[in-house]
Amino acid sequence: MLQSVNMESLNGKEKVNGTKSVVDVDDNIIGELISKSQKAKDFAYCPYSKFRVGAAVLTPNGKIFTGCNVENACYTLGICAEKTAISKAISEGDLNEQVISPCGGCRQFMREFGAHWDVYMTKPDGSYCQISVEELLPVSFGPSDLKGKKCEAS
Ligand code: THU
Repeated sequence: MLQSVNMESLNGKEKVNGTKSVVDVDDNIIGELISKSQKAKDFAYCPYSKFRVGAAVLTPNGKIFTGCNVENACYTLGICAEKTAISKAISEGDLNEQVISPCGGCRQFMREFGAHWDVYMTKPDGSYCQISVEELLPVSFGPSDLKGKKCEAS
């Protein structure tokens, strides 16, 4: 169950609800992440769903990478905005009135790079809801699970 927190003001942006931060991120950086993810939406290639999504990821080095959804005529080949942003970060070495929640596939994709980091789901007005990857995908399957005991044939 999510722990709800009081509304708080941040750079004029309103935090609508969410949970405690896993990582301490400066308010100005959160504001920057929000505005960059909103700008990234403009680049969305979504002729099929017409549903623009933008994302921004802050790396441990303090760099921000953005991404948008990129669809394909072969629908299953389309990629989500979060996946684009994370892929850019890794490869570089280093609706409007609702808060949109990342899809199950994106949650698993995020979890690959750790369960203890925060995701900020935002609205166009800059208000946001913060949640950790662990909360988005509890009891998740990660890289270390592959080292677990293999099923043996009986
Ligand atoms: N989409 C994302 O980019 N991220 C999500 O977490 C949810 C869905 C995109 C995929 C597709 O291009 C469009 O939104 C409609 O599902």
